[in-house]
Amino acid sequence: MTELSGPLLAPSGLKAATHIECQDNLEFMGALPSGSMKLIVTSPPYNIGKAYEKRTSLEDYVDSLHEVIAECVRLLHPEGSMCWEVGNHITRDGEVVPLDIILYPEFKRHGLQLRNRIIWHFGHGLHTTRRFSGRYETILWFTKRDDYTFNLDPVRVPSKYPNKRHFKGPHKGEISGNPLGKNPSDIWEIPNVKSNHVEKTIHPCQFPVELIERLVLSMTNPEDNVLDPYMGVGSALVAAIMHGRNGYGCDIVPEYVEIARERVRAYWNGTLRTRPMGKPVYDPCLPNGGH
Ligand SMILES: C[S@@+](CC[C@H](N)C(=O)[O-])C[C@H]1O[C@@H](n2cnc3c(N)ncnc32)[C@H](O)[C@@H]1O
Repeated sequence: MTELSGPLLAPSGLKAATHIECQDNLEFMGALPSGSMKLIVTSPPYNIGKAYEKRTSLEDYVDSLHEVIAECVRLLHPEGSMCWEVGNHITRDGEVVPLDIILYPEFKRHGLQLRNRIIWHFGHGLHTTRRFSGRYETILWFTKRDDYTFNLDPVRVPSKYPNKRHFKGPHKGEISGNPLGKNPSDIWEIPNVKSNHVEKTIHPCQFPVELIERLVLSMTNPEDNVLDPYMGVGSALVAAIMHGRNGYGCDIVPEYVEIARERVRAYWNGTLRTRPMGKPVYDPCLPNGGH
């Protein structure tokens, strides 16, 4: 356990701890007990030549994930969820290889069941000239069993027509939708962390914290454990502790690990800035961008 481990009191009054190491994930996960993680959410290197990765053949890339996925399955709680977030691999001659489709059989081989293929749509990125610019990544959400934890109410979003009423039948005249809002669907529009984003650090591809908050709130209960085995700068851990869950994570790059620790410290001190969940996406057609 690091200096940031051990139970700390979250502002909500719920206990939440973090366990952060600068370590290879197989070594880190090997020390954790089977079935202990309610949510495993991660985004492995995409094999696209970012600063922290060595570009290899697609076969070697998939091979490198075999053991990590098997270890994640061992750690996953029977009622838990595994969320694997990836984009597309682009070959040297510009062919697009959808990594989630390539990786899907790796999860099925362990008997996991797909609950959603969530499309994370965002606005910023490089523009391409020989194909349409890529503006989404996917999250494959798997569970081990049918009786998985799923709490829809904490992640409902405002209904489009909240005053819509039944126009016939026994409930005629009554409000037809859920007063808490609607299901957010499997297409999520959440800004990615680019230069002007309040959460931006030196990491080239951080999760926006609000993306993970939605997973944490719907797939875990307070005091459950959340693991990111490719933690980067600890966005998943921040999302976990913000809601009174325990965060576990490791990365092999010391600078990223230090930033993850700083972000957790800043959260406890009340100085961490995150983009609030549910804040409307900037819309240039609206006054003040709709904010
Ligand atoms: C796509 S990034 C994840 C970023 C993270 N989601 C965040 O919000 O910062 C992948 C991370 O995996 C780390 N990594 C690569 N190989 C690893 C390994 N064997 N064990 C642990 N971390 C590893 C890289 O250093 C990189 O930070």
